[in-house]
Amino acid sequence: MRKNIVAGNWKMNLKIDDALNLANDVINLLPSDNDVEVVFAPSFIHLEKVNKMCLKLGLVNTASQNVCQQERGAFTGEVSAEMIHSLNVKYAIIGHSERRGYFNETNEDLKLKVDVSLKNNLKVIFCCGESLNHREERFHFDWIKRQISDSLFHLSLDDFRKVVIAYEPIWAIGTGVTATPNQAEEMHKFIREIIKKNYGEEVANNTSILYGGSCTSKNSKDLFYKDNIDGGLIGGASLDPESFISIIKSF
Ligand code: PGA
Repeated sequence: MRKNIVAGNWKMNLKIDDALNLANDVINLLPSDNDVEVVFAPSFIHLEKVNKMCLKLGLVNTASQNVCQQERGAFTGEVSAEMIHSLNVKYAIIGHSERRGYFNETNEDLKLKVDVSLKNNLKVIFCCGESLNHREERFHFDWIKRQISDSLFHLSLDDFRKVVIAYEPIWAIGTGVTATPNQAEEMHKFIREIIKKNYGEEVANNTSILYGGSCTSKNSKDLFYKDNIDGGLIGGASLDPESFISIIKSF
């Protein structure tokens, strides 16, 4: 059966000492019977040190926040999937709405990023999400379907098994406005149905679908209680060890 996952997206925050302290604090506060997969996504330059700490203690995995769609070569300033995997990092987050919005990443670019990540043995946390306009125009289901099918549905069944989906409505990210548990569940159920149509019931039931967007210790219990919500991709609230731990404990 699918895993419950809580991933902290640290975005462009924290100097190295703060990042290591945060990782250390969370690891120390983890309950001994924790069975939720916990993931930290620090910035690229902190990834190696944070990952080393996590590997040593063996309780948390890490993710990069992005990856270059090119395999290697003359792409100044970029970081390749091969480099990330060489640090023994487990996941790459692909398609975050801040990447799509501020850096103009298209579904086609993201498809390439997914492919190069899987080819280099990284698992993928693939983000999708609609704007408020799309939701108000009742276009949100079509929008999500397009994001997922354009960037993921070319994958073989075996490769698709290495993908975690994060549904993050753009209007909820960093705004303090969370999708209600029913709104999130409705979309997660829809996502699971389209996966089922493409890859069958077994794969659909085994795919973890995370919610993201102003998820905090105040609303995580109600969200994670829903059948199709298998955890969260947490921004702001992942920067505070106590808040992040209480989100992990809400299963
Ligand atoms: P937030 O961010 O929890 O601060 O809304 C979530 C995300 O962007 O992944």
